[in-house]
Amino acid sequence: MSKVLAALNDQVIREFYSAYLYLAMTTYFADAGLPGFANWMRVQAKEEVTHANKMYDYLLSRGHKVVLGAIDAPPASWKSALDVMKAGLAHEQKVTGYINDLASLAVKEKDHATQIFLNWFVTEQVEEEQNFTDLVNALSLIKGEGQGLLMLDRELAGRTFTDATATADAG
Ligand code: FEO
Repeated sequence: MSKVLAALNDQVIREFYSAYLYLAMTTYFADAGLPGFANWMRVQAKEEVTHANKMYDYLLSRGHKVVLGAIDAPPASWKSALDVMKAGLAHEQKVTGYINDLASLAVKEKDHATQIFLNWFVTEQVEEEQNFTDLVNALSLIKGEGQGLLMLDRELAGRTFTDATATADAG
């Protein structure tokens, strides 16, 4: 079995974990009376499912029999909105590490098709980290409270889901 495809199979499960984690964070925000934040995080959770499916489809196209392992339970509580976004950023940084390791393995194993496939994810991770960084910075500026928090909540209510993996340049 290809080492690269087996490693990519592991990442499918991690992407589903990301969706699970962001769904747990959605619950936190809904419970905290911040529907805009809950909406933003729900969209984030949906995006992660598209990431998992993009990898799953690629593995099938390469003739790899995908094995779906257990998904860990995510945490259920955080201290504040800022705490959630910091945890989200730390999680994305970890995912970036996994994607980079996969890309390095594909190079080492001379799997050119997977190298090209992973380019989309390498680029996507820059955006993922940026999104969370922006929110960590915004929440730090407003100290995570008051009128600023309410305004940010209204802004985040406007995020809509689009399947970026379905566009023509998605690879
Ligand atoms: Fe699937 Fe948030 O990267």
